[in-house]
Amino acid sequence: MTLRSEPGPPLSGRTRVTPDKSMTHRAVLLGAIAKGVSRIARPNSGGDCRATAEAARALGAKTRLTDEEWVIEGCEGIFQEPDHVLDMGNSGTGIRLLAGLLSTQPFLAILTGDLSLRSRPMSRVADPLRAMGATILSRKGGRAPLAILGGRCHPISYEMPVASAQVKSALLLAGLGAAPGELVVTEPGPARDHTERLLKYLGVPIFVEGSRIKLKTPAAIPSFEWTIPGDPSAAAFYIVAALIAPGSELVLEDVALNPRRIGFLNVLRQMGAAIEISPRGEQEPEPRGDITVKHCGLKGITVPGEAAVTFIDEVPVLSVAAAFAEGETVFQGLDELRHKESDRLATTAKMIRDLGGAVEETADGLTLHGGAGGLRGGVVESFNDHRIAMSGLVAGCAARESVTVHGGESISTSDPAFIETLAGLRSIPQ
Ligand code: S3P
Repeated sequence: MTLRSEPGPPLSGRTRVTPDKSMTHRAVLLGAIAKGVSRIARPNSGGDCRATAEAARALGAKTRLTDEEWVIEGCEGIFQEPDHVLDMGNSGTGIRLLAGLLSTQPFLAILTGDLSLRSRPMSRVADPLRAMGATILSRKGGRAPLAILGGRCHPISYEMPVASAQVKSALLLAGLGAAPGELVVTEPGPARDHTERLLKYLGVPIFVEGSRIKLKTPAAIPSFEWTIPGDPSAAAFYIVAALIAPGSELVLEDVALNPRRIGFLNVLRQMGAAIEISPRGEQEPEPRGDITVKHCGLKGITVPGEAAVTFIDEVPVLSVAAAFAEGETVFQGLDELRHKESDRLATTAKMIRDLGGAVEETADGLTLHGGAGGLRGGVVESFNDHRIAMSGLVAGCAARESVTVHGGESISTSDPAFIETLAGLRSIPQ
């Protein structure tokens, strides 16, 4: 699918953004092993979360998915053997979290995905899950398909070599069905903590002490009701579009404000962005609120790698912001970006270059040379990566010429409403 964004009106108005993808995955999987009927209001309905819901159904959970609400009748901790391969599509979160749950189920399950997912590293979850007692086979280099023969796992103490929410969550989910005991996971950086928060909210004995998470094997997982807040990673596209398109002013309503997800707001504020945050409503299990953003001039900064895990998914669109900023922006410590839906250091650098920007790619970072002229426009290849496709369209909101994006269908993995929402915010009120 080819999409185009043309120079034109600023962004204005108020909108909700698509519900959070990471939280929807976790809600579906916990709903699937819970006792009773869980209701997930405002789920993320993109392809990734649908693949997770489909896998939950194939494992015996009863699911009823409507636009407003996903209702899941859980299996009380005991899945049934699926009679086909589980296809997790493009979703790293789906395959890795499910690998954790399946490690404690006494049957064979095979997990696969699309070309991108089958090229991503899985040893990072398979190795510690094997240490817990699961049998996991993979292709060479630890790539999917994965064949998992689960069983009676035992809790372990594990120091994660990389800060990864997916690895941490896979282990915690395996810990839910493990033999009685205490699982201890230590993380080297503040990866998103949605699994910990949701488990605590459900009354599971989970304790976080600094970088160490302890989980005591629970007796059961209760069902729940949860209205998912807006996805900050989805909000980032509209925020950057508003910052770079002159005359823009936007309010994004009911966005998740988990501190481990909104590191990109700190980066943008350091670049000089005018962004206000107002918390609202229910704050458990996840804080939420409104974000107001206005167009303003940005300046280049150096962004060290320490907090990179809190804005890792936003680097492509932050790079667009940097291309419109005055001066040089340096991103460091981003080696993990090479293992996302595409090699995002390479695909982000190519996108910026193809739009007329100046960028250098290093082994673990990007240096962008911004300027008052911003980007020229041009043709972007998404490499089947939703965040590259959306970043290209955001650049087109302020580039001097139009931006054409090839491979735009990838956007529906995370935000099926993106094109319509962006067009709505750019339409001149009658
Ligand atoms: C996610 C964790 C992150 C992130 C991904 C979603 C999650 O990856 O990049 O888009 O839902 O747990 P890591 O596992 O590398 O932290």
